[in-house]
Amino acid sequence: PAAQNMLLLNDFEHWAQRVLSETAWAYYRSAADEERTFFENRDAFQRYFFRPRILRDTSTGSTESSILGIPTAMPVFISPAAMAKLGHPLGEINLTKAAGNCNIVQMISCNASCSIEEMVDSTVDGQSLFFQIYLNKDRSASEQLLRKVEQLGVKAIVFTVDVCWQSKRTLDVRTKAKSNTAPPSPPSSSSSSASGSGSKALSVSQQISGYQDTNLTWDDISFIRRHTTLPIIVKGVQSLEDVQLCVDAGVEAVILSNHGGRQADYAPAPIDVLYEIRALRPDLFSKTEIMIDGGVRSGADVVKALALGAKAVGLGRPVLYANGTHGEEGVYRVMEIMQEEITNTMRNIGVTRIQDLRPEMVGPRGPWVG
Ligand code: FNR
Repeated sequence: PAAQNMLLLNDFEHWAQRVLSETAWAYYRSAADEERTFFENRDAFQRYFFRPRILRDTSTGSTESSILGIPTAMPVFISPAAMAKLGHPLGEINLTKAAGNCNIVQMISCNASCSIEEMVDSTVDGQSLFFQIYLNKDRSASEQLLRKVEQLGVKAIVFTVDVCWQSKRTLDVRTKAKSNTAPPSPPSSSSSSASGSGSKALSVSQQISGYQDTNLTWDDISFIRRHTTLPIIVKGVQSLEDVQLCVDAGVEAVILSNHGGRQADYAPAPIDVLYEIRALRPDLFSKTEIMIDGGVRSGADVVKALALGAKAVGLGRPVLYANGTHGEEGVYRVMEIMQEEITNTMRNIGVTRIQDLRPEMVGPRGPWVG
């Protein structure tokens, strides 16, 4: 069906399962171990409901906002996710073009299947790209990469810290056992991971992650700081305590994330971590920008997170699925759906501007009075 006939983000997932190659579907959809965190990311959003307000003028308004001072048409960004070419021959270029047309931020994966230059060349005037980095075991390669992306004009470094150890991505591992086809390797990693064929075939995750360092510590934030002048966003924060440590380390923003349930199974849902911070440490929201991703599938999900204090909200799989089914047009349609749903949701709960959303407009599923 045409992209315009997709009404919900989940419609893309439905069709992606039917049209993607088995390898692509398995890599995109897979999650760690029993996938409890993968499902929890969704379930948790469904445990929060609105406390709408009535009889307020909602005839005009806007979803405009900013991330690290960079204007965005809405507080939604493309989370960094690897290997868009597995779903569509143009790969991440489609994401860059759609993000440019929608005026939102794209975070480029360190394991993207297009080169950073190709993506930069596909931007429109004023478009902002952030670059996500995995540190290389060879730190001098990371230094070079940090220098290169800054010269290419990216606006922030996203340091992903929740892949400190390999995980078992169940569906990906099961599928590699059946298939010997090697996917295209990502040009931006200077990796030398093993070949993907024969009886020793590796899952897609294993093939692209060989260069990544598993020995990461808080000192690595200073390492990145020494080699870039760009703001640093730490992605993969999963506890209130670590948000505080990120503040102490002086990072400009954090993304509460469990990698879409792909790393530690039974890691908490980011919306629950956000709720805990709101309840126990509301002061943290003024010390660093707090964003979240994982399980976001509707404008209502976005508005819940924003009301609780998130600066912006990221989409991972929905973008990869839409790229796989409809290419650039699909990614554009995802953002169109988000814009429409965010606007509808906000106005129906009595709010017209992002900055007017308040924590008391969201609560755990009722009844609240015992
Ligand atoms: C990811 N994610 C990810 N994160 C990152 O920092 N670097 C990366 O290269 C990747 N690669 C990647 C590939 C695939 C196929 C998926 C599904 C995810 C994690 C991603 O940025 C994000 O945290 C989650 O995808 C968010 O969850 P949802 O929206 O997929 O539920």
